[in-house]
Amino acid sequence: MFGKFGVVVFPIGRKNGGKMGCGPQPLTALLFMFSTLIASSICQASKSAAGAGLYPVCTSCHGAAGLGNRGMSGPKLAGQQGFYLLKQMQNFQSGARGTAPGDAKGRQMAAMAKGPRLSSLAALESLVAYIESLPDKAVAPTVQGDVLRGKSLYSTCISCHGEAAQGLETMAAPRLAGQSDWYLVDQLQKFANGKRGYAPGDHGGRQMKAMMYALSTETDYRDVVAYINTLTP
Ligand code: HEC
Ligand code: HEC
Repeated sequence: MFGKFGVVVFPIGRKNGGKMGCGPQPLTALLFMFSTLIASSICQASKSAAGAGLYPVCTSCHGAAGLGNRGMSGPKLAGQQGFYLLKQMQNFQSGARGTAPGDAKGRQMAAMAKGPRLSSLAALESLVAYIESLPDKAVAPTVQGDVLRGKSLYSTCISCHGEAAQGLETMAAPRLAGQSDWYLVDQLQKFANGKRGYAPGDHGGRQMKAMMYALSTETDYRDVVAYINTLTP
């Protein structure tokens, strides 16, 4: 926990000259740790407030509440873990996502991620903090499949995505439960046909692409996602 705050909070405090109260205080070691915890929640709140001003351009495709917009192919973002949202924004910016031939939707999103207001890490972190603050609400399932078959297929996924598909940050694996189910099926197709996980430096994407050996048909994708729909993280 301390390490996480050390990485995320301190650099921002320094950039702002400690104005937001995000930097370390000149106190004893114990008070220092305590103040770090308090400062980190103040930081999270002020980052999220700054991120609110960056989110309106996202609403046309992801919805004002971040619940997704299928008509625009924009998946639900609310409820997704911050580490993963940040990584994907960076992947879209670097070209590790959205540049494969034929990936029109990825290209569209990549253009959004390259907006001038999102060029700094601090801006991306604020935007992600804002998305994390959006309440996670259930969205209607759209994918049907054989849940029992899906359950057995999902046994290969547990080590990275978790028993309840809640996502495991230590494995760099996102939450799947409760996210847009049509989008999960789409993404499985993209990993299978090389539209994701193609960049040499994209370790997470490559790892997931390699896992596609466990699923071979469109029916497999639907069945596993139908099972994921039954999970509550
Ligand atoms: C013009 C429509 C559009 C706009 C505007 C847009 N997006 Fe997207 N976004 C998409 C689409 C389409 C995808 C899915 C890409 C794919 O199929 O690979 C996506 C995917 C994403 C993902 C990946 C989610 C995941 O689970 O992998 C993130 C994160 C994201 N968008 C964040 C944002 C943010 C933040 C903004 C505002 C700065 C934004 N998007 C604006 C269309 C849009
Ligand atoms: C070895 C670890 C690992 C295993 C096992 C694994 N995944 Fe993944 N998965 C990942 C990682 C890492 C990512 C994030 C990829 C990235 O950063 O682009 C991911 C991403 C995904 C995504 C994209 C989600 C999104 O929001 O865009 C889906 C869908 C998915 N996995 C489904 C599955 C399914 C279904 C299985 C089992 C058949 C599975 N995964 C097994 C590591 C794994």
